[in-house]
Amino acid sequence: MRMVDIIEKKRDGYKLTREEIEFFVKGVVEGSIPDYQASALLMAICLKDMDEEETLNLTMAMVASGDQIDLSEIPGIKVDKHSTGGVGDKTTLILGPIVAACGVPVAKMSGRGLGHTGGTIDKLESIPGFNTELTRDEFIKAVKANGIAVVGQTGNLVPADKKLYALRDVTGTVRSIPLIAASIMSKKLAAGADAIVLDVKTGSGAFMKTVEEAKSLARAMVKIGNGAGRRTVAVVTDMDKPLGNAIGNALEVKEAIEVLSGKGPQDITEICTTLAGKMLDLAGKGDFKSCKAQAEEAIRNRSALEKLKLMIRRQKGLEDVVNDTNLLPKASYVKEYLAPEGGYIESMVSDRLGVASMLLGAGRATKESQIDPAAGITLLKKPGDRIEKGEAMMVLHANNPELFEAAVKEIDKAVRISSQKPADLPLILDIIE
Ligand code: URA
Repeated sequence: MRMVDIIEKKRDGYKLTREEIEFFVKGVVEGSIPDYQASALLMAICLKDMDEEETLNLTMAMVASGDQIDLSEIPGIKVDKHSTGGVGDKTTLILGPIVAACGVPVAKMSGRGLGHTGGTIDKLESIPGFNTELTRDEFIKAVKANGIAVVGQTGNLVPADKKLYALRDVTGTVRSIPLIAASIMSKKLAAGADAIVLDVKTGSGAFMKTVEEAKSLARAMVKIGNGAGRRTVAVVTDMDKPLGNAIGNALEVKEAIEVLSGKGPQDITEICTTLAGKMLDLAGKGDFKSCKAQAEEAIRNRSALEKLKLMIRRQKGLEDVVNDTNLLPKASYVKEYLAPEGGYIESMVSDRLGVASMLLGAGRATKESQIDPAAGITLLKKPGDRIEKGEAMMVLHANNPELFEAAVKEIDKAVRISSQKPADLPLILDIIE
């Protein structure tokens, strides 16, 4: 087989066979296919698309490129969740304990943040002492004992994605539904869960800027999951505004604890009970309506909060943060961001707030950057709220007061105030089974 023939075939809009796709993925990982040929095929896929079967074959070839986690030692149906990324998205910290409290095991591998989006592992590590680096044995034992463990990615999961993503990033080939779907789903399938709930975000803070694009991506991923024999459901959610009121690692842990105590913001509570309801539904705990009610009850009776505490204890973190969030790292300096004019907050562009939070120290500009667990932003007002000129709209947290200036400049660009109250978009836009 010759790579140039495969490139030409896709360039001319023809369907690739499983053997051709496997040849490509294997060659990329082994290094026998040079970057320029791999990039040419990626661009041809971007322009000519892939059908359902090709996308599934690409995903499965990527899964086969590395380790696959075996969770069969843990009894019960294991359900994983993936969110397509967002600013202030602390759903894993909330969902995991809820689902575990309802009797479904959560064996979760999560990532670190890069740039303006936060990673669950960075958030958990803002809890003093919390260890995200368990061995495989410790991980499985923790899930068996408490029903939940969240750890950083270990092993050599989907090396094909690491190579392909790095190429896509610099060749203008990230925005392709089959490539995004295969990239995300290959990692989910390799992580070993029996069923998968996807939270596909749309809006200014998300990869998919329009609802239609988000639905197409959701459909492509659901087809891959089901095609691979894992029950998969996608919930399309709005990310035009940040989720909840906190952006930044310790600030988000504090908010997650508030949600699990029944005192969190309504938007994030609603998204979490919906996603948890879907996870429980896939795990056979009843129909969606009764599963969502179980998720709400786990918050009300504090059993989910208790699960979070057990997980923190098992992973050597300071469990008292659950009862006293003042024990989480706190920034030495705070500064209020005041409304430049009065009116209704029309929009707060989530990615810009994410960048502002990163500039305060909460994110990484490069993979090597150190993050400040205490840094970030607390929103006092959200889009749709009325605000007076000079009223505090948010609070910025940093350990170096010199960082405020650049963050404020970014927030100036993020916020739009208007005399009209903006239309309220629903948070949950669609559910794709
Ligand atoms: N996230 C991924 O993991 N892969 C993509 O291609 C896009 C977003």
